[in-house]
Amino acid sequence: MPDSRFPDIEACLFDAYGTLFDVGSAVAKEAGALGEIAPAVSATWRQKQLEYTWLRSLMRAHEDFWQVTGDALDYALSANGVDDPALRERLMELYLRLDAYPEVPGTLQRLRATGRKTAILSNGAPGMLNAAIEAAGLSELLDDTITVEPVGVYKPAPEVYRLGVTRSGAAAERICFVSANAWDVAGAAHFGFKVAWLNRFGQPAENLPGKPLAEITKLDEVADLLDA
Ligand code: LAC
Repeated sequence: MPDSRFPDIEACLFDAYGTLFDVGSAVAKEAGALGEIAPAVSATWRQKQLEYTWLRSLMRAHEDFWQVTGDALDYALSANGVDDPALRERLMELYLRLDAYPEVPGTLQRLRATGRKTAILSNGAPGMLNAAIEAAGLSELLDDTITVEPVGVYKPAPEVYRLGVTRSGAAAERICFVSANAWDVAGAAHFGFKVAWLNRFGQPAENLPGKPLAEITKLDEVADLLDA
């Protein structure tokens, strides 16, 4: 029996970056070139990437996530005193083949074995998502890759989560949404999805509307929740 908080789930939608893919893995592979500033570059890159999505959405000045990711990297390198165009290109290229967390393929397999749909619902631009999915060998384990591009606004705008309903054909309350990003968890729960927060990094909960129904620490616990 599935957990009583997650009855009748037809589709599982996953955030991509930080949830399926380890966003730290790009800088980790260039740790030799960056030296002791590597952790600061990685953290600032991710934080600016997210801030730029929120700011561009408020400014109604959408550019796709590949552009935003590059702009954020430029900020992070500059903030840390790095001026190295070749390194910048290598880091962007590594973002196209981020490591997937080890439990991802097995979890997707278990969910699909129960007949549920699996899909990504992400800020990512289609090209960068498809590259990462293929590099991680996940293409056959996902029914769909839903990106924000058709609505031209970023999470946590409700238009984005609504794409999950229209594309999957499942009602919001029959969708289990999983994200490691607590602000994304809030947005998805506020929209009406049944949300599991994958709290990989032991962070405190956000003080925002929209609460997760479950908190897990590894992705395969989603399959346990759905009795897959
Ligand atoms: C995504 C970002 C928020 O994949 O991680 O949508």
